[in-house]
Amino acid sequence: MDQGKSDIAVVGMAVMGQNLALNMESKGFIVSVYNRHSEKTQRFVEERARNKNILGTYNIKELVDSLKTPRKIMLMVKAGNPVDGVIKELLPYLEEGDIIIDGGNSYYKDTDRRSEYLSQKHIRFLGTGVSGGEYGALHGPSIMPGGDKSAYEEVKEILEATAAKTQDGPCVTYLGPKSSGHYVKMVHNGIEYAIMELISETYDIMRKVFKLSPKEMSNLFKEWNEEHQSYLMEITYKILDWVDEETGKPIVDVILDSAKQKGTGKWSVQDALDLNISIPTINAAVNARTLSSIKEERIKIEKIYKTTIESNLKEDFIYSLKNALFIATVIAYTEGMKLLQVASNEYGYNLDLSEVARIWEDGCIIRSALLKPIQKSFKNDPHLINLIISNEFKNEFQNRIPELRKVVSEIKKANIPIPAFSSALDYFDGLSSKELPANLIQAQRDYFGAHTYERRDKEGVFHTEWQDIHNI
Ligand code: 6PG
Repeated sequence: MDQGKSDIAVVGMAVMGQNLALNMESKGFIVSVYNRHSEKTQRFVEERARNKNILGTYNIKELVDSLKTPRKIMLMVKAGNPVDGVIKELLPYLEEGDIIIDGGNSYYKDTDRRSEYLSQKHIRFLGTGVSGGEYGALHGPSIMPGGDKSAYEEVKEILEATAAKTQDGPCVTYLGPKSSGHYVKMVHNGIEYAIMELISETYDIMRKVFKLSPKEMSNLFKEWNEEHQSYLMEITYKILDWVDEETGKPIVDVILDSAKQKGTGKWSVQDALDLNISIPTINAAVNARTLSSIKEERIKIEKIYKTTIESNLKEDFIYSLKNALFIATVIAYTEGMKLLQVASNEYGYNLDLSEVARIWEDGCIIRSALLKPIQKSFKNDPHLINLIISNEFKNEFQNRIPELRKVVSEIKKANIPIPAFSSALDYFDGLSSKELPANLIQAQRDYFGAHTYERRDKEGVFHTEWQDIHNI
């Protein structure tokens, strides 16, 4: 009955959906495609999908009827209401056991709500992060599925064939129940924001302090990337070497310094606060984008304070910068892994952090050589309390934190904002300080609000009558 029918459907024919469908087809699967506006589907099947095992469908019934059972339908539509909209349209045509895979950047709480709702309807649901942008979708993304385990078993073959591959296997694994897949993708993006900001702060120092040209900076990043093997650093040196066709100038000089964001970084920070987890470098990266976006205000304020860059740093400082960027990048991953560890306990995801690092090794935006030692760290000790103390990184921290400290102190003197670098150093300093001034905070809280405090010398909860409120 299923003969000639498609193995999977991709709904949403924006570039990610198109590329994913082409990728799946290239691995030998028959793929049905559907888009709300049928012209898009038609154009896709006539152009990019021409002569391929890709079937354009033009209404939901046709789409559902074209699939082998249990039906596997991957949604590549915009996160938010459009996901609920497609689910609503699909439901009347689906049968018990059919599978919906949401491959967008959905908010994890929406994924939990949808999982619950769909399980009541006996539809299996996988909230799945897909990373790698357009190129990754076509040539092999990192895929982060979570939700119904039995559904994963059904789609495993297709997802494994579609994902990027490393020596350690395909960059996909079943991550855990409920929203675990989308949570892992959210944190991936938080780390993505932090690494992007750290690289951008490095660029800012290179241009403002050392007056390097984009071409010179490109060469440096290219050299440094031999160590990082980072996708984000790779695109950075390519961008810095790019000339704008219209003006003949380096394109980076033509682009407005006002960053946008779609929310995943912010969600990471919000959730970390809810879980009482400190991820200051990621937080700084989100804030830096926000601050950058108020360009008009920045222009007005700069006119008043006329901040000038003051520095007589020598060229050899660049090598401290290289080490600072390396260790601050490790801290960005560290914060993300910590958030995942705590969220996993809190939300019952039961994440294997070494597997998370493994599936990030290729295909995704934060892929880099650092993921291998991260993977190893959590393999050796699944309950590792923090990557900072892992055997894989201890020496790196010992050797490179002094360089990060040098960069932060010198660049602060030069009047250049480096929120991510500073926050990374504060994170390290805070974590490695046995003594913090929170004793005074506790006293202040108790003074004005009778919030009580604990003592170092005995067990219990204490309060001091700081003021005689009746006689003031
Ligand atoms: C990926 C990316 C991607 C994300 C964009 C835009 O892993 O492929 O994380 O999913 O949507 O990078 O994010 P912002 O608009 O928030 O920068």
